[in-house]
Amino acid sequence: MHATSERAAIGIDIGGTAIKGGAVTSTGHVLAQRETPTDNHAGIESIIAQIALMVSSLQDEDAVKSREIVGLGVGVPGLVDYRDGRVINCANLPGWENVQIAKLLDDRTGLGVSMENDANNAALAEARIGAGRGSDSMALLTLGTGVGSGLIICGSLWHGAGATAGEIGHTIVQPGGRRCTCGQQGCLEVYASASATARRVVEAILTGAKSILSERVNSGHPLNSADVVEAAKAGDAVGRQAWDESCKYLAMAAINLQHTLDPKCIVLGGGMSAAGDFLLANVNRQCAEMMSSRLGTLPDIRLAKLGNDAGFIGAALNALDA
Ligand code: BGC
Repeated sequence: MHATSERAAIGIDIGGTAIKGGAVTSTGHVLAQRETPTDNHAGIESIIAQIALMVSSLQDEDAVKSREIVGLGVGVPGLVDYRDGRVINCANLPGWENVQIAKLLDDRTGLGVSMENDANNAALAEARIGAGRGSDSMALLTLGTGVGSGLIICGSLWHGAGATAGEIGHTIVQPGGRRCTCGQQGCLEVYASASATARRVVEAILTGAKSILSERVNSGHPLNSADVVEAAKAGDAVGRQAWDESCKYLAMAAINLQHTLDPKCIVLGGGMSAAGDFLLANVNRQCAEMMSSRLGTLPDIRLAKLGNDAGFIGAALNALDA
């Protein structure tokens, strides 16, 4: 038992489609990891059961048995009060409203549970061992189904007065604009997420625009942001316009973050960041067009480094900090 001294924790990242988890050391080394589709139709209890099963299966790994597991960190894709382990609400997980998830998981696993927002966990991981390493201020945006974000200020996560800070995806970028799942209108998330990018192309095609993606859309095939990138790279006007629009809103968010926080760097993660330089170059160009040099310099915008593992690694690091 506990042959090596480096402490470890288990981190779990609950997403609308998959639950990812891993046992992680304090230096961010992943000892073992798991992934399973989220069983979100059968309610909270079934997800709690899935997590408990994942935790015990990770604890059974030889590489994990030899460590002292100091806690369980969990990330959810919604508002979390980290102080009492309560999920405030979560648009993508029906029924997850005002529930003491930490208590439920503690009872099932016997581990001390630290709860966080999913993007806050990802920001913590990127700041410690990923793209933001060495920067004591950083903003992370995850571009997936929604737009998640986490703020690192003076080396620590910034939670705000009511634990709801860092929801850049719900800053309003278009007054009176599209309705968001949060209830507001015109949120960044409905203009710049991976889903919003794909939706823009689908809507253009369904209202008559011609694109190399027309056949797929007209036959009911779903699109994702990678399809839009491919079309835009091939010179497709609909794909290009959709991509430019999303990048314009991201540039707006980056400029607003720069003027609000002046962070050392802004890190872009999530599915859409797989576009790499194609994303960075466009966002940087539009930042340069919109931002006044009299107000400071362009933020250093970088790609995230930890991919899909950032959420559970950050969850574990958060538990190790607790
Ligand atoms: C939620 C955030 C979450 C993000 C990524 C957004 O819709 O409001 O809390 O971090 O999606 O999952």
